[in-house]
Amino acid sequence: MTRTHVPVLAAEVIELGDPGPGDTVVDCTFGAGGHARLIADRIGPTGTLVGIDRDPAAEDRFEELAGEVACETRFVRAGYAEGLEELSAEGLEAHLVLFDLGVSSMQLDARERGFSYSYDAPLDMRMDPTRGESAADLIAELEPGRLAQVFRAFGEERHAQRIAREIARRRAHAPIETTAELVEAIEAAIPAPARRAFGAGHPARRVFQALRIAVNDELDELDRGLPAAFGLLRSGGRLAAISFHSLEDRRVKRFLADRARGCVCPPDFPICACGREPEAEILTGRAVAPSPGEVAGNPRARSGRLRVARKLAPGEAA
Ligand SMILES: C[S@@+](CC[C@H](N)C(=O)[O-])C[C@H]1O[C@@H](n2cnc3c(N)ncnc32)[C@H](O)[C@@H]1O
Repeated sequence: MTRTHVPVLAAEVIELGDPGPGDTVVDCTFGAGGHARLIADRIGPTGTLVGIDRDPAAEDRFEELAGEVACETRFVRAGYAEGLEELSAEGLEAHLVLFDLGVSSMQLDARERGFSYSYDAPLDMRMDPTRGESAADLIAELEPGRLAQVFRAFGEERHAQRIAREIARRRAHAPIETTAELVEAIEAAIPAPARRAFGAGHPARRVFQALRIAVNDELDELDRGLPAAFGLLRSGGRLAAISFHSLEDRRVKRFLADRARGCVCPPDFPICACGREPEAEILTGRAVAPSPGEVAGNPRARSGRLRVARKLAPGEAA
């Protein structure tokens, strides 16, 4: 193995996800298998580990891991929304379904895949490089208004419109096909004081995040994946999700809060007419953040936030 991905909040995932001997666990974002390996050790020879990932490189990692662990193993190469639906159609029931969202260090460090503004490479960013449109395709095709919308909605980029206009100006002369060409356009568009402002970070960070989310349809996948994951849990089973930015974390938080909510009748109703009961108990009141020690050892863990909920048995909340 050349590149490694250090699993984020790993001890917390194990503690709160609580996989035990004989359990079935679905890792929706297998990546380099860091979490999966720890889980496999916990579930032992009678457990089943199902890995999902849309990246063919992750499938290779899964094959390696499968040869080294004692449990039953199975890999589904697909977007996790589709993968979970497939497992649900088969009637699989899981004790733990885990999401560790975003990209792996393996993907970021594979320069040729174009995820990182730190290396010059073709502007690709597809987690599954065999399907769909690349970031270069989006940069070439989208109207400037739509590009600005993507940068704003998925990157919370303040200079979205200026950047979109600069891209449109440049692409009229020559296509923007590499990460370096895009970084150049972004740097030219952002006013110098904003670029130099303390704590501003790399000027291309937000646009790269936005494009990656758009290319991989990440938020729609999450909106479809969360209910599919919850549906797959047996009573007492746990859904655990690690997010890396507020767009993801907000979705996870809302989804879990919605499942944990009971009666939704107006407060002036004398008795409950909706009959709605909580389906989940939230185990992380506040999202769990990595410890300073973890961040010191793995700076990429910095923005990770873990939320976990337990599925209640019917009538358990009553
Ligand atoms: C942060 S990494 C996971 C790392 C992993 N937990 C580990 O310890 O090695 C995220 C992985 O999820 C995959 N991924 C992200 N979104 C996905 C989706 N919607 N469907 C399938 N895989 C996805 C990426 O390809 C990447 O390999």
